[in-house]
Amino acid sequence: METRIQELLNQMTLEEKLQLTIGNGFWHTHGVERLGIPAIAVNDGPSGLRKPYDENALVAQSVPATCFPAAEALASSWDVALVEEIGQALAEECLANDVQVLLGPGVNMKRTPLGGRCFEYYSEDPVLAGEMGSAFVQGVQSKGVGTSLKHFACNNQEYERMTISAEVDQRTLREIYLAAFERVIRKAKPWTVMSAYNKVNGVYASEHPELLRQILKTEWGYDGAVVSDWGAVNEKASSLAAGLDLEMPGRPGNTTEKLAKLVHNGSLDEKVINEAAARILQLIFRGLEHRQPDAEFDQDAHHTLARRAAAASIVLLKNEEQILPISTETTGSLALIGRFAQAPRYQGAGSASVNPIRVDNAYDELQRVFADRASYAQGYAEDGSLDPALLQEAVEAARAASIAVIFAGLTDQDESEGFDRPYLQMSDAHNRLITEVCRVQPNTVVVLCNGSAVTMPWLAEAKAVLEAGLGGQAAGGAIVDVLLGRVNPSGKLAETFARRLEDTPAYLNYPGEAGQVRYGEGLFIGYRYYDQKGIKPLFPFGYGLSYTTFKYTNARLSQSTITDADNLEVTVSVRNTGTRAGKEIVQLYVHDLEASVVRPQKELKAFAKVALAPGEEKEVTLTLEPRDFAFYDSELQCWRSETGTFEILIGASSEQIVLREKVMLNARPLVPVFRKDMEIGKFFAHPTAAAILLNVFTSHTSGETDGSNLQMVLALPLIKLALFGFITEEQVDALVEQVNQAVGAS
Ligand code: BGC
Repeated sequence: METRIQELLNQMTLEEKLQLTIGNGFWHTHGVERLGIPAIAVNDGPSGLRKPYDENALVAQSVPATCFPAAEALASSWDVALVEEIGQALAEECLANDVQVLLGPGVNMKRTPLGGRCFEYYSEDPVLAGEMGSAFVQGVQSKGVGTSLKHFACNNQEYERMTISAEVDQRTLREIYLAAFERVIRKAKPWTVMSAYNKVNGVYASEHPELLRQILKTEWGYDGAVVSDWGAVNEKASSLAAGLDLEMPGRPGNTTEKLAKLVHNGSLDEKVINEAAARILQLIFRGLEHRQPDAEFDQDAHHTLARRAAAASIVLLKNEEQILPISTETTGSLALIGRFAQAPRYQGAGSASVNPIRVDNAYDELQRVFADRASYAQGYAEDGSLDPALLQEAVEAARAASIAVIFAGLTDQDESEGFDRPYLQMSDAHNRLITEVCRVQPNTVVVLCNGSAVTMPWLAEAKAVLEAGLGGQAAGGAIVDVLLGRVNPSGKLAETFARRLEDTPAYLNYPGEAGQVRYGEGLFIGYRYYDQKGIKPLFPFGYGLSYTTFKYTNARLSQSTITDADNLEVTVSVRNTGTRAGKEIVQLYVHDLEASVVRPQKELKAFAKVALAPGEEKEVTLTLEPRDFAFYDSELQCWRSETGTFEILIGASSEQIVLREKVMLNARPLVPVFRKDMEIGKFFAHPTAAAILLNVFTSHTSGETDGSNLQMVLALPLIKLALFGFITEEQVDALVEQVNQAVGAS
């Protein structure tokens, strides 16, 4: 393909190449008609295809497509095979609609649960988000449809999303905010990466040479196309120079002419244009190769898959007295309460919103089973607000039944692309409904449909809580599958649920001011924060119950000592100790016990979902790679591990660590690089450097110094010796060179 692209580039005019770097309308690239190169179509994503009938519209009625669970829900399944399967189904729908690139997945971190697009993102943890994102990309692309990994990078809030600058230190950037992107790039090679709207450390992400050219393209070796988010480009020429290949959507005016002038007067390098054009040509050819004019897809099969996926994503948060699953035989009557039972909330609002092929609701499903043993009360108004009459009606219905099942959560007015949530709690209408129903009905089950964490002031009163998330068009049926025990719940939270907003990691540093949001909590987002601060959340990351129980035994490591280049295998046995078949998510966390830098108390590094029949036991083996022990050294600008003991933690959740092992890691000794602006104490910490410096010191001092003087001297940068006139600047330079040579040789 490379030769073909090169030949085409040779035949193209500068204007034609420039035109390739700008979209054609909202949903297409340009082609080069003269050379017979057609355009390709790119459409949203990520939980279903959003292809507007009117191709000239940004938002319009779109073709019917299967709406799968939102990323937030799917992540709770921790099931990479399932996500891959959904990716394949999405690709089939793209092929049938002649779409070559699906705009997803989004792997931004959930820095705050208030983020309006939390529903579109997987997790607060980069390994979970990265694994989910990789499976999605692999699934879609295995069928010859491209993906767009978005939004690169630090697009963690909707407030001022097009202008805000995320102020984040290098280590946090690498270990938290870029890590999921890096994982997906290396593992799954998405055809495109979408650069974000916001700025990162003062520079627009879509015009950011460090992010796009240095890290993404050079360091990670990314060879696909970088596409801007819709309207993210501000200075077209700087974006091209920074490594952006395709600006979306198309823009009016004579942009190519203006850019050509810049090339002619030498302010924009033609090499940059050639590179971008080559990447877009590659993208077009990739898309064309798999175009299938007669492609169709099986709507029923996709709906069935959506239902299975929605059920696998449900998290059972509470189940007192085993009220769930509800027995269809022994339960007298059921009160279904809450409008979501009939008109479910199953997807998020904004560019990810799909026109579903059909929508299941729990009401119809339960009516089929319970017939006239089931009553229904709307509970709150259509717009989600409190309606005293509807509330009263619901309370009466609950009082009269044997069990009440309440459907509540967040509405499109509470959370959406484009704005953040002002509160962590659900609306009064939903919270009061639950509280009042619990008051009259001890057997109350709450089913939550929401795209992000909420508080639960009524938790102690409800007997059971199912977190169903935004489960897609088949969520209604899937919820009933879990309520009635046709499916044993197996999801675990992909984000922490806090007791109150004040406990959330970004609380003091959100939403920012004067155009900047400081990521002051650093590495400590999600469970890393709650661990470090000793704050007990409402429900921890990785938490979820089942209708059965599991027991972990016999954790073992393939080695007790490793080097920083070795893999380590961790094996554990898991047994289903209950009477129902179920699935358990085994989580593996690592804790660096001896570190010279601050390190979280635990970090998820691997996981597996394992299906077990009653009484069955399986061995689960997870592999840790060198990077899983490393931190990003922002001084040396590289990943490295330090010698010392690491704890290997096996958890049923981030809070419930069931087994612990230790491994000794021997890292290759670092050859430090000394600089004249480093403290003298750092020189003295290295024996070779110390010996050299000691010589200089004894010849320039009386040798008599008390403890506090010594501390002061050790805290001085070496160069200050020249400023104070002890030695000359030239002598300092020579000294540093001598030290570096000696240390390198030692
Ligand atoms: C969103 C992207 C989306 C694009 C196209 C933007 O506003 O941020 O996620 O893919 O629009 O609809």
